[in-house]
Amino acid sequence: MNAKQVKDLWKLRNAEKLGDPTRMPRHVAIIMDGNGRWAKQHKLSVSRGHRQGTETLREIIRHTDDLGIEALSLYAFSTENWSRPAEEVSALMQLILDFFVSEIEELDQKNVRILILGDKSALPEKQRETLLEAERRTGGNTGLHLNIAINYGSRAEIVKAAREIAVQVQSGELSLDAIGEETISDHLYTAGQPEVDLLIRTSGEMRLSNFLLYQNAYAEFIFPEVLWPDFTVEEYDRCLKEFESRNRRFGARVEE
Ligand code: IPE
Ligand code: IPE
Ligand code: MG
Repeated sequence: MNAKQVKDLWKLRNAEKLGDPTRMPRHVAIIMDGNGRWAKQHKLSVSRGHRQGTETLREIIRHTDDLGIEALSLYAFSTENWSRPAEEVSALMQLILDFFVSEIEELDQKNVRILILGDKSALPEKQRETLLEAERRTGGNTGLHLNIAINYGSRAEIVKAAREIAVQVQSGELSLDAIGEETISDHLYTAGQPEVDLLIRTSGEMRLSNFLLYQNAYAEFIFPEVLWPDFTVEEYDRCLKEFESRNRRFGARVEE
């Protein structure tokens, strides 16, 4: 999209209030953190906290799509999260299932393409089948790239890329000299998508926790204090506004 197309789209979506449309991030990544603390604050079970988190998730996906942002990556379950209590893990697995069953129709209708980041083979069969089906069903869509990271770890993703590239070199399909930064990008789950422009992590924690290490190389980071179940569309708009005001230099000397 050129600047004019972005502007037209922005107008169409009635989102001028956020300011200069050309400063819109193309790819937003969100580490949805704070469900456990929210549950504790409200004297509810951790599972209930996660369930409340899925309400926020729906709103944020909808808003991202309305704004015409190209890609949204959401961290739902990390490879490290398997070490949580079995009861919590199984509640999360159930929520993942419920989410896809209840949302797939609307997402497909909205032309959203769903992609699961992470190793689906280690998931329970029902979850694996449902996620595969969501990817199959929406794979031909041309709208928002909705990436949901489930059993995802960025280091494992990079190792997987390195292995695939090594196989191509070994078979003579790829020469060593031809390996560049794009070769790596092309072997990540997010192949073909723009790199992350804006990373948001809620709950005040300031770390990546093994999320999209390669794709976040030049992202702007914003860490709202608010816990994920309390994160609102208004708070999201504030993050987008803050992103717009950042001076992205990419290493160059840029006059303010
Ligand atoms: C994030 O909320 C959701 C997942 C990791 C699945 P947490 O469960 O990590 O919430 P806190 O960090 O304990 O508050
Ligand atoms: C990161 O949050 C993973 C997800 C949000 C799915 P965690 O709460 O698991 O990360 P740490 O343990 O604080 O690094
Ligand atoms: Mg956490």
